[in-house]
Amino acid sequence: MIVSGSASQSLAARLAAELNEPLVSVDYDRFPDGERYVQIEPTDSDRAIVVGSTVSSGAHIELLQLQDAAREAGAEQVVTVIPYMGYARQDKAFNPGEPVSARAIAQAISTGTDRILTVSPHEETVCEYFSPPATAIAGERRLAKALPDDLIDPAIIAPDEGAVSIAETVRDAYGGGTVDFFRKVRHSGTDVDVTGVELDLEERDVVIVDDIIATGSTMSESVAQLNTQQPNRIFVACVHALLARNARTKLSRAGVASVLGTDTIERPESTVSVAPLVAAALS
Ligand code: R5P
Repeated sequence: MIVSGSASQSLAARLAAELNEPLVSVDYDRFPDGERYVQIEPTDSDRAIVVGSTVSSGAHIELLQLQDAAREAGAEQVVTVIPYMGYARQDKAFNPGEPVSARAIAQAISTGTDRILTVSPHEETVCEYFSPPATAIAGERRLAKALPDDLIDPAIIAPDEGAVSIAETVRDAYGGGTVDFFRKVRHSGTDVDVTGVELDLEERDVVIVDDIIATGSTMSESVAQLNTQQPNRIFVACVHALLARNARTKLSRAGVASVLGTDTIERPESTVSVAPLVAAALS
């Protein structure tokens, strides 16, 4: 059976269809004091696949509740799919006194599951923080599907060196293109500088790809830089279209017409599904 978190209902339904497994009914509610309440439909399935992007602190709690409800319902095996894992970017203590938030979150989730799948975490090493076996799925493999078939001499650009493997995966999935990357300096949560793409981009179609667009600072700076080189069209693609705060406006002001994302986060921009990849990992 597939048990969906409230923030992952489209992906859960697609996964149920891919796997030909029942999608159980889930009620999401609140107690008068604001605490979350979930209830899943009784079932006799041995395996529960709980699907929940932890897009908020509440979604973390809900995921723990759904894992527990699946066990209470009699599931012998609980598999947890975290399409977007929140707090994964705090994967080390960058400054004295900070927590390793990704580890704390992973440990809590580990207590209620037998296996974890997550999609394009910021660093794959985050999987080591879970106690049961945990696997990272490269959601960027699906991004090529969102691109037009007629890209002209495509340049696939990563906004920083860490995203080069994402750009290479998109290039390979698309079937061609040249990869380059920016050198990024982050001054604060919302202030970044990018420099250093050396390709001649004039008249070419450019695709900028990243794992996540959060505040949109990285992408909007990248687009502004690339626009100085008179490319033909610029496409902005990411696995997790988080688009926090005023990110969409920031991107629009930088000249971005549309953002291409996957359904790890459910938004109008999430035009491709990672369900086939998750299903393949579970089969
Ligand atoms: C950072 O290394 C990540 O890959 C993304 O580039 C970053 O998290 C994007 O954040 P923002 O949209 O806030 O610039």
